[in-house]
Amino acid sequence: MAPALDRPLAVGIETFGCQMNVYDTAAIFGLLEAAGFRRAARPDLADILLLNTCSVREHAEQRVLSHLGELQRRRRDGGRPRLIGIVGCMAERLGGALLAPPRGVDLVVGVDQYDRLPALLQSLLDSGSGETVTGHRDDAHYVAPPEAYPTNNSHLVSIHKGCDYRCTYCIVPETRGPQREKSPSRILEEIRRIVSSGGVEVTLLGQNVTAYRWQEELDFAGLLDLVAGVEGLQRIRFLTGHPRDLSERLLRTMAAQPKICPALHLPMQSGSDRILRRMKRLYSRQEYLARVDLARELMPDLTLSSDFIVGFPGETEADFHETLEVVRRVAYDQLFSFKYSPRPGAPAARLRDDVPAEDKKRRLNELMAVQEEVWAGVARAQLGRVWRASLEGRARRPAGAWKARTANNRKVLVRLPDGRPGDMVSVRITGFHSTTFLGELLPKAR
Ligand code: 5AD
Ligand code: SF4
Repeated sequence: MAPALDRPLAVGIETFGCQMNVYDTAAIFGLLEAAGFRRAARPDLADILLLNTCSVREHAEQRVLSHLGELQRRRRDGGRPRLIGIVGCMAERLGGALLAPPRGVDLVVGVDQYDRLPALLQSLLDSGSGETVTGHRDDAHYVAPPEAYPTNNSHLVSIHKGCDYRCTYCIVPETRGPQREKSPSRILEEIRRIVSSGGVEVTLLGQNVTAYRWQEELDFAGLLDLVAGVEGLQRIRFLTGHPRDLSERLLRTMAAQPKICPALHLPMQSGSDRILRRMKRLYSRQEYLARVDLARELMPDLTLSSDFIVGFPGETEADFHETLEVVRRVAYDQLFSFKYSPRPGAPAARLRDDVPAEDKKRRLNELMAVQEEVWAGVARAQLGRVWRASLEGRARRPAGAWKARTANNRKVLVRLPDGRPGDMVSVRITGFHSTTFLGELLPKAR
């Protein structure tokens, strides 16, 4: 039984996981505010708190569950939040089980049901009894109002939901459902609204943006061309691509269109063909590397980042060394590397998780060490170069510094007397710390 509450109620959302959840959180706030709910200034001041959750690895779920335990303790002690809801991927994966003890939340709402949240919260407040609403719908596309963010100056724009690939380690096709496109006209309308509210940069977002296809007429390259035609928009980024869909046509579109930033997040997952087959990634190491070579040939300034999994079932030391070789060969700007985590419901859950925990840990450390060494070489080669970068906001340190970002997604700190987010500056690179560069302002923009 939910406690009686005075209105107007403040709603908070805590976001875990990927950029898609960041976008959905903004969209949920938009829906709730339109229905008269008030947004809490901070999550700890929320009467109703929603946790927007991630299921991609067990660790991600554990984090949410331990946070939930803490919230339940606060609530038992009479504090906020008074009502707790779970939305996002865990809602989809675990469903009604989250209503029952020991979790005991008040509401469980899946990724395609957010338009029902205002009514569900209202009926929870009226009747006091919780509900679970999950399952996938084709018509469920949300729009995050541009006022609600941006992150890093870049407004997120989701272009589709779900995923039709069946990478064997991945729970996302279960939790997010099949791939369903937002129409080009809705995407363009959303972007025009962002531009008219002062935005100059968008990040097109999806589980597999490169697989975008609208009614046999338009592929992702075509969509990029349409988006580039939006007047006033200056930069276009996108996340995440699948190496298999990275066609020559798409790379040529990127190279030809100056608004499209030359940066690719291109998850490879493993450097071993044997493991790539077991993961059902649908490309070989050679095919991946050939795409990278072509992309670099067409876009000399291109930067790359990637995801890798170590310790997938059956991964030998030899397989792992092939991953290290790829990381040395490609020289990524940034790597996101993970220990394999079996996900109940994903196809690989049927395979024996046979790489011992200590080997996974050692391989992860080794992979990160190789990346650091490769990156130091790449970063050193940038010293003395002159970059154009756009200001994103003031940096916490050093005093007087601003955060700026280049088109190819490199971060640089630069001291300047005065500025506005979005301004372009020229900087000479003087140093770096991890993946952030330090630069000095050149007197005149070139
Ligand atoms: N175990 C470990 N890492 C995973 N990822 C996805 N599923 C799993 C899993 N079961 C990683 C992949 C993906 C990134 C978002 O998370 O590298 O690209
Ligand atoms: Fe998961 Fe593979 Fe789809 Fe990416 S492409 S969301 S890794 S199934």
